[in-house]
Amino acid sequence: MDARMEAKHAAARAALAHVSRDMLLGIGSGSTVRAFIEELGSTKMGVRCITASRESADACRKNGIPVEELGAAMLDLVIDGADAIDHSGQVLKGLGGALVREKILAQSAKRWILIVDETKLVDPLGGTVPVEVIPYGMARTKERIEKCAHAVSTLREEGGRPFVTDNGNCILDVRLPRIDDPEGLDNTLAVIPGVVGTGVFINLHPHVIVSTATGETRQWDCP
Ligand code: 5RP
Repeated sequence: MDARMEAKHAAARAALAHVSRDMLLGIGSGSTVRAFIEELGSTKMGVRCITASRESADACRKNGIPVEELGAAMLDLVIDGADAIDHSGQVLKGLGGALVREKILAQSAKRWILIVDETKLVDPLGGTVPVEVIPYGMARTKERIEKCAHAVSTLREEGGRPFVTDNGNCILDVRLPRIDDPEGLDNTLAVIPGVVGTGVFINLHPHVIVSTATGETRQWDCP
């Protein structure tokens, strides 16, 4: 295992301390979450899980963790990864393409824990903002997104074809190296017809667990 993967496992192991057997647990997606699923599976804790992606659901089953469908009940805890987190706990997510389901889980959670390596800590917030859009009228939606965000976007591809989310939609990756008003950006983009959701996760007050390259972890609550 390389150093970065070791760091992801260190953050994942630290997150285990927040999990107990009686919980209804939400699980996001990405490689750090995958490390968490492996660590959780090795505990044989038998916790009930709901996942944000088919990939995470497959990984759970492979690691002996049963997966349920999301119902109306609030989740006790959601564990997820992130692509960028600023000092105030505003977050960019979605490079794995599961942003809409991840946001549904985050907003259904009594507690939202993000596990990241230290490369994900940024100030100011910025980078790639994925936006999930329905295929119908995508060229028009792209045009409106770019005009509202004052930025260019790229249709995400996989294997030379448009990437398709678990919801059957496409992703436009909007390049925004500096985001001074994440809430305003999310509000502006979310109301464009054709947009299903953005990778800007605001005001969700995560508990952040960060691991360093040497495997040490730090954690704090974002008020
Ligand atoms: C997927 C996500 C992931 O949580 C995010 O991309 C981080 O992934 P990784 O742990 O592989 O760096 O938002 O939609």
